[in-house]
Amino acid sequence: MPTHQPSASFSNHESLEISNPQVLPSTPIAVDCEESNFFQDHKKNPSKHYVIVMVGLPARGKSYIARQLTKYLNWLNIDCSIFNAGEKRREMLGAGQSSFFWDKNNSEGQEQRKRIGLVTLQELIDWLMLDETENEESSKKMKYGGGNCAEEYTKREIKCAIFDATNTTRERRQMIIDHLTDKNLPRPLEPNHIIFVESICNNPQIIEANVRDIKIKSSDYKGVSAEQAINDFMQRIKAYEQVYETISDDEEKRLSYIQMIDIGKKFILNRIGGYVPGKINQCLMNIHLAPRVIWLSRHGESMDNTMGLLGGDSNLTEKGQCYAKVLYRFVKRMQEERRNQEISIEKPQLDNMMVWTSLLKRTQQTSFHFKHDENFKVVRWRCLNELDAGVCEGMTYERVKEELPHEYEAREADKFRYRPQNGESYLDMIYRIEPAIAELERQRCPLLIIGHQAVNRILYSYLTGLRPETCTRLPIPLNTVIEIIPNAYGVEEKRYDLNQEVQKEYELIMSQKK
Ligand code: SIN
Repeated sequence: MPTHQPSASFSNHESLEISNPQVLPSTPIAVDCEESNFFQDHKKNPSKHYVIVMVGLPARGKSYIARQLTKYLNWLNIDCSIFNAGEKRREMLGAGQSSFFWDKNNSEGQEQRKRIGLVTLQELIDWLMLDETENEESSKKMKYGGGNCAEEYTKREIKCAIFDATNTTRERRQMIIDHLTDKNLPRPLEPNHIIFVESICNNPQIIEANVRDIKIKSSDYKGVSAEQAINDFMQRIKAYEQVYETISDDEEKRLSYIQMIDIGKKFILNRIGGYVPGKINQCLMNIHLAPRVIWLSRHGESMDNTMGLLGGDSNLTEKGQCYAKVLYRFVKRMQEERRNQEISIEKPQLDNMMVWTSLLKRTQQTSFHFKHDENFKVVRWRCLNELDAGVCEGMTYERVKEELPHEYEAREADKFRYRPQNGESYLDMIYRIEPAIAELERQRCPLLIIGHQAVNRILYSYLTGLRPETCTRLPIPLNTVIEIIPNAYGVEEKRYDLNQEVQKEYELIMSQKK
């Protein structure tokens, strides 16, 4: 088992306090420490959790960014949750405030906003501190990984809360820091675990698109014409602009912050180091707003599929080869259809498609027709290979149950964390697949991934924002394309069942062979 060496991202400090987080295999979690008076006061009990504080004017994509971060961090087994001040306002005061509510001369509005901000922040703190009072022993050390007796912590140990609000003044940001580092908390946060993410966007096209797409659908403007809604929302933005203080290096140089300019055009980083902040940064760097489609498909039926054998690297059956043909025809058909339609967030373009496969024969053979068409770029990824079933490779489940009952039982008890001897768990796979996820987010072109059952379960859970531990029994049938289109609110999903077409193709081939 790989051992973990905790490391510090800032090296020149007199007093480094390095807490060894309860790491999962292959999760290089480094808790960074920094010289600060804070450590003199809080040596005993610093929290290992993080808070991301969004900063920026309305319609700068803050909520979209917060959702992307949540999806990614949750998938990395970091428990992440969003606390949104706008939602809290609607909950406390009801929807429908006009822009006057945000006017700097409206003292009652100012008071209410302050109170809503504090309530939201308090809920965030309550959520973060929830497990700090639990008996830690009760959550520790479960045995898993039948066969190799690895003892590891299986709980989600690190939490990350996102405070999704405008937080546009220096005073407000200081208030947030004061609350999160308050000595009276069971475990106050370390200052460098509070990361400000400011979205600065001066591109009128991005702002307009955000205002139109998101705000006119908001319950604040229910029953109001689109024009009125847009006008009022622009007034709201103006009210914020009058008090907005961007994070400035002169005034706030001790903050850990990331400034993101025009959604990915430029980044400014200050005091960002360590595993979790690094992952936050990586996620932000890949965010873009281009509409796009991602298709997930398993390989066609393989020889091992027909015998119910685990793992292996067998060839496609005759039917599997039919699927390769049908899949290619399906993609070409869809591309043709889309060329005659207007491209939109619901209907992204399908030309210039990339096809990703693993290194295993069954996915390569399924991509055969794409490889011979210059309109597709086929890329092979080792990290998309199927779950390594270790000692169970080449066996049926029935045989595993009979001959390796301890493996069988360990798998039944916790399929997500179960690691067969010499093999890997779903949890291990998350960290293996991560480079492909980063690339998937970065790419703007349409993407077809020809993967495997377990691999596609993990990819699916990431793309749809499911908690990864719930993915191990998701149905990912053969001969089916799962379409996923991300949008500002989540994703649109559709499934195309190609079984009938495969069967027809198979019958045709068989009749020609007679
Ligand atoms: C809102 O009330 O919609 C946003 C509150 C804020 O973050 O300023």
